[in-house]
Amino acid sequence: MRGQRIYLKECASCHGADLKGEPGWQSVGTDGRIKAPPHDETGHTWMHSESELFRLVKFGQGAAAAPGYVSPMPVYAGRLDDTDIEAVLAFVASRWPPGHRAYQIMLDPGFDPARMPAGDWVLPQICQPVPR
Ligand code: HEC
Repeated sequence: MRGQRIYLKECASCHGADLKGEPGWQSVGTDGRIKAPPHDETGHTWMHSESELFRLVKFGQGAAAAPGYVSPMPVYAGRLDDTDIEAVLAFVASRWPPGHRAYQIMLDPGFDPARMPAGDWVLPQICQPVPR
């Protein structure tokens, strides 16, 4: 699969060949650097719409980042073309359980119910009680 090939070449060094992200990704390193999150269902990639992910990979965090923030992640404009970025994101999405994929499809402003996964699935539970 083309998307997988591109993922392994361009993304796996930080996000992991198994999509598990960098070890300890939820904490910031002593150098203050944010670590690469997982791209499987244990991360939060599926919580962003396809168009949001596309823009993020192509152009970087842009206006969403705090002023002066420099991401460790390269900007892929000029390095991957649009179809490469779509292929890599399709590969990542293909690894999610169908309920996670459904959640992402529903974020699309042009939501098309025909794109929803077939079969039985449940939406992921994203509002979990904070342990005290
Ligand atoms: C040099 C390391 C590095 C490489 C290579 C890299 N990333 Fe990242 N990526 C990061 C880090 C660190 C973050 C979190 C901090 C940030 O976003 O600035 C991140 C964040 C992300 C996010 C936003 C968080 C999320 O999961 O929603 C996406 C999407 C993403 N990367 C996709 C990719 C894709 C696709 C590739 C390959 C085409 C890639 N990255 C290559 C380091 C990297």
